[in-house]
Amino acid sequence: MSTLLATAIQPNSQTDFLPLQGTDYVEFYVGNAKQAAHFYKTAFGFQSLAYAGPETGMKDKVSYVIRQNKLTFVLTTPLRINNPIADHIYKHGDGVKVLALRVDDARSAFEETTKRGGKAYLEPTVLNDEQGDVVLSGIHTYGDTVHVFVERKNYNGIFMPGFREWKSNYNPTSTGLLYVDHCVGNVGWNQMNPWVKFYEEVMGFRNILSFDDKDISTEYSALMSKVMSNGNGYVKFPINEPAEGKKKSQVEEYLDFYNGEGCQHVAIATNDIVSTVTQLQERGVEFLNIPPSYYETVLERVGKIDEDLEPLQRLGILIDRDDQGYLLQIFSKPLEDRPTLFFEIIQRKGAQSFGKGNFKALFEALEREQDARGNL
Ligand code: FE2
Repeated sequence: MSTLLATAIQPNSQTDFLPLQGTDYVEFYVGNAKQAAHFYKTAFGFQSLAYAGPETGMKDKVSYVIRQNKLTFVLTTPLRINNPIADHIYKHGDGVKVLALRVDDARSAFEETTKRGGKAYLEPTVLNDEQGDVVLSGIHTYGDTVHVFVERKNYNGIFMPGFREWKSNYNPTSTGLLYVDHCVGNVGWNQMNPWVKFYEEVMGFRNILSFDDKDISTEYSALMSKVMSNGNGYVKFPINEPAEGKKKSQVEEYLDFYNGEGCQHVAIATNDIVSTVTQLQERGVEFLNIPPSYYETVLERVGKIDEDLEPLQRLGILIDRDDQGYLLQIFSKPLEDRPTLFFEIIQRKGAQSFGKGNFKALFEALEREQDARGNL
């Protein structure tokens, strides 16, 4: 099996039983949501949006909602022990719990997915306040991660019933982050194809790209990956599994420290990656280091690009091309002390693929970090 780029994604609302309008929000369960919100605002340029906690009638947890353009994060922390949020954090550390998807009809989304085998997480539930109704429903995906379907067409409030506006005197400038481009899941040995089947059968996604262990291997370790896309291409979920190598795969390191399957990275789009990454680095966000040798040959591989190479090399931004154009991408170091979740920043200039040409340089960079942690 070699790399395969499917023809352009065709929206087909007639036959799409799960029409998605995109990512609604990403919810992280974290040990200290107050501090996490400050970190994401400061380092990444989010703005305060909404808050829920004891003051708004939510007795056992606190959630802060932050936003930048179309990117919405919810940071949730438990106030007490012995509940699913506290257990999630004990087991996984800070991580992604909910990949929430915007739908026109959350009841239909629940019915269509559960009748195809999706495991119920949240029965359709109507939340209501003076600003209108939000309907939520949800199903389980890999590990303890879930998809919540959010129907908000009859809601005019700031975020959702139960939340109040969070006004802050501290409003750092945006770094140009726009929206979620894709979210990658790491699953266990031999579990990639079952999860591909889940996204195909339960959610109506298609496999648009596949990478085998020949595509994604270094001298030491390997992984396999398949990219799943919904009908209109707004939602893409690549699924990785470890493959045999001389040493431990980066996916295995993740599975060890996350204690199971989960979200490996969230890729966030920008229209100006040089400006975005310059600001992120000034604010202390750390990225994987790319050796100077990468830049000596990269233009021979990808051809002419609009950007000067110098800032790309200085910042460590990678370049790749497919038959539709090129893309610029960079990967952060893990966002917490466990080597688990990280972010990718991506600027697409035509290319709809995922940077296959960068895999070797990228995974060698990851392995240097893994080796420094003693986990290679
Ligand atoms: Fe990615």
